[in-house]
Amino acid sequence: MSGEQKIAIRVRDLEVSYDDNRVLQNINFDVHEGEILVILGESGCGKSTLLRHMLMLRSPQGGSVHYGDIDLCQASENELDEIRRDFGVLFQSGALFKSLTLGDNVAMPAVEFTNLSKDTIEELVHLKLEMVGLGGMQELMPSQLSGGMQKRGGLARAMVLDPKVLFFDEPSAGLDPVTSASLDHLIITLNETLGITMVVVTHELESIHAIAHHAIMLGKNHPGILAEGTPNELQNSDIPRVRAFFNRERYDENHGVLSGN
Ligand SMILES: Nc1ncnc2c1ncn2[C@@H]1O[C@H](COP(=O)(O)OP(=O)(O)OP(=O)(O)O)[C@@H](O)[C@H]1O
Ligand SMILES: [Mg+2]
Repeated sequence: MSGEQKIAIRVRDLEVSYDDNRVLQNINFDVHEGEILVILGESGCGKSTLLRHMLMLRSPQGGSVHYGDIDLCQASENELDEIRRDFGVLFQSGALFKSLTLGDNVAMPAVEFTNLSKDTIEELVHLKLEMVGLGGMQELMPSQLSGGMQKRGGLARAMVLDPKVLFFDEPSAGLDPVTSASLDHLIITLNETLGITMVVVTHELESIHAIAHHAIMLGKNHPGILAEGTPNELQNSDIPRVRAFFNRERYDENHGVLSGN
């Protein structure tokens, strides 16, 4: 990672509400090309909401999200479709379609969004499955795969169109620590070998330490960014609430760090 990285995505003064519930406000940060940016914070703080608005799947109440020179808030649906070709996404609920083979799941974006021939798509699927450690398994049904393998399959699908930016929402949710660590390793390998910029939502401390070049922390009942920096910087933050998260301590806005259970 050099010091002079270009900015891939620029979020400025982002503001998001659901009816009267202001979830995000004064959200300002950059995602640099080639970095792994982690969005963290406790459940319900707005991580998935932030990701959805970075993809402009819902318009924010204020602010902007720039991808290169383009403000996604001002872009037409056609322009957004074009831009989203550069993005690979693995949603929090992003399971594989149960009625399709692993191979057909991975092929789906290529079938839907390109005119590539059947043979080319087959080759692409083969390559992407190799990349995530599922080589030769294209004929298996999702029910025949473990949870970790399904996540890898979702990752292969997100990568099938060679995205410049990959977005993951809780990639290791529901996985055991060993499988989760191996997924982290895969994420790092893909970032390092392909140079893909990554935006990863997670609240798993081990993952944060393993993969994050830079992290931003959101707070529940606090619509702004609580803190940002490297995982080590956040762990040693002057802000008690941030330190508490990294030390697995319960924290209450009125009483600070709570002792006992
Ligand atoms: N579509 C929606 N309509 C109304 N409220 C929503 C919607 N999506 C999220 N919210 C609310 O916004 C807040 C943030 O939700 P969000 O899903 O972004 O949190 P999160 O940090 O991703 O949580 P988790 O770690 O549990 O996935 C919550 O209070 C939630 O109830
Ligand atoms: Mg979420």
